[in-house]
Amino acid sequence: ILEKCRNILADRKKKVEGPLSGKTVLVTAGPTREYLDPVRFISNPSSGKMGFAMAAAARELGAEVLLIHGPVQLDPPAGVKAIEIESTSELFEQVREHASADVVIMAAAVSDFTPVEYREHKVKKSGRGTELKLKPTQDILSWLGDHRKNGQVLIGFAMETRSLIENANKKRKKKKIDWIVANSLNEPDAGFESDTNRVYLLGEESKTKIEGAKKEVARKILQKIFAEAVD
Ligand code: CTP
Repeated sequence: ILEKCRNILADRKKKVEGPLSGKTVLVTAGPTREYLDPVRFISNPSSGKMGFAMAAAARELGAEVLLIHGPVQLDPPAGVKAIEIESTSELFEQVREHASADVVIMAAAVSDFTPVEYREHKVKKSGRGTELKLKPTQDILSWLGDHRKNGQVLIGFAMETRSLIENANKKRKKKKIDWIVANSLNEPDAGFESDTNRVYLLGEESKTKIEGAKKEVARKILQKIFAEAVD
């Protein structure tokens, strides 16, 4: 265990040279959970793979990376500091605390709704149906767009089931971010649990189709955004 800890610390300190050297990158990944009682929650099937791949790719390009993630079955990439959260409000608290990062990548599949009321004790079944009242959660990416620090780059993800490019671009503008990675839920070999992905990277003036293993897709996204400007 000691050996493992030493390796992790050594990895984190290791200087990696690349277009993101000297930059801090905050990545969020995985689902959030909104509990309605101690044993039940609302969530989604996000595996966290795309976000973890983004964190690994940012590290490879030389950045100091902080990964804030929900409950997933993955180990953080080498050299990346990780913080685990569960609810959207915990995620928001951590993002606000680290909002001074040079680059923020919101790959987390944030739950859009949370129960109006949290029941302290397990809700017993009565034999009849029941109604669940929900309210919207904080839109973290919009908050980042409204509180952007000078020169900060904001990257979001969009999961759409129709009009992929149009809806994703609308999201990019509405949330006041620089780039959005548009994912179609209808495509084979793409989306939540897959190891591969097929996305469009949309910026103010560009549209790039990227496909392949999630790790490869992550690398290409960051290369397109950061390496091209440096070359
Ligand atoms: N996001 C966020 N906070 C939320 C919901 C989403 O920061 N409460 C971020 C996600 O991390 C992602 C982007 O916003 O980077 C888009 O998420 P998506 O679920 O596709 O869009 P929504 O804004 O939730 O819109 P809709 O569900 O109506 O498509």
